[in-house]
Amino acid sequence: MPDPVSKLAYQTLQQGKSLMGLAHKEVSTRLLEMLAPGTLPQTVPVPPGMFEQFRASMNRLLEIDWQDAERGVYPSSLLFEAPWLEWASRYPLVWLDLPSIWSRRSQRKVRDLPRAVEPADFPGYYLQNFHHQTDGYLSDRSAVLYDLQVEILFNGTADPMRRRLLAPLRRGLRAFSSRTPGQLRVLDVATGTGRTLRQLRAALPGVQLVGLDLSTAYLREANRFLAQLPGELPQLVQANAEAMPFADATFQAVSCVFLLHELPGAARQKVMAECFRLLEPGGTLVMADSVQMADSPEFMPAMENFRRMFHEPYYRDYIGDGIDGRLRQAGFAATQAESHFMTRVWTATKAAT
Ligand SMILES: C[S@@+](CC[C@H](N)C(=O)[O-])C[C@H]1O[C@@H](n2cnc3c(N)ncnc32)[C@H](O)[C@@H]1O
Repeated sequence: MPDPVSKLAYQTLQQGKSLMGLAHKEVSTRLLEMLAPGTLPQTVPVPPGMFEQFRASMNRLLEIDWQDAERGVYPSSLLFEAPWLEWASRYPLVWLDLPSIWSRRSQRKVRDLPRAVEPADFPGYYLQNFHHQTDGYLSDRSAVLYDLQVEILFNGTADPMRRRLLAPLRRGLRAFSSRTPGQLRVLDVATGTGRTLRQLRAALPGVQLVGLDLSTAYLREANRFLAQLPGELPQLVQANAEAMPFADATFQAVSCVFLLHELPGAARQKVMAECFRLLEPGGTLVMADSVQMADSPEFMPAMENFRRMFHEPYYRDYIGDGIDGRLRQAGFAATQAESHFMTRVWTATKAAT
């Protein structure tokens, strides 16, 4: 049961993660300036006061995360998950990988992928080094580093942001309250290394979970991670989210985290149309991705610098995209959106017939 001491422990843990992320970025930036002066991408100046806004917004996110656990949306044990030993063993690999990231960035090499990759098996937009990361999404070594790199990027707030899906998703499932958990199916689209599936497993015990991603390597890492948990193993499927290999109306809820900004507009639309097709009438889609220009104009410099520092070819288009309009075009009746720190969460319902 959450209490003030646990709350302090949670805040301290998050502060520790945040400091580690900031320290890593500061040290690696200085090192790059020393080793290869002038190769750092030009960033836009951050106005005074933005860091304060950032901190306040992050604290609000952590407060909501705490409150949702307290309300029983998910077990409070989720808040304390921090695989320190695993991170410590992987952290040197993050450093060892940095020179290749820097070199790829300065040479603007964005299609530097493993030779074994068969281009015909993937959509063209996918065959890139997103974030300049080594092998893109297409190798085990990339999959092993991904979670830690995301932790560092978001200063330890990636999971609190992902968890913002859980309350709307659970609310959406009330439409099927006459069914047992085992009769409900929830799909996580672009599941990556399975972080959202892990959270869904904790918040929805007994529900059938399916994770889909284009990367076999990331799914292998997800399988390794999820196999450590008690309860049913989620099913993992390798496929393109634009054409998912499931029958119509076979899921009661669908989640999708941090995918939209990595897709060209047309693919974004197709993925939403697919989510609509897969949902049973009355079902709910919940998507989380970066905040956008319209809802968080105060964070524009951060969005712009993110795009400049990391290879994110569709991010500029994404931050100006009208996701509500796309959801309606896909067929969704009711849509809602809210922002939490650097993430925007959309909830959309397929009208019951
Ligand atoms: C930024 S990661 C997000 C992963 C995960 N949802 C998370 O929260 O960390 C984007 C993921 O989308 C997957 N992906 C990108 N395009 C895809 C597509 N068309 N179909 C399925 N998965 C895709 C990538 O392989 C990668 O795992």
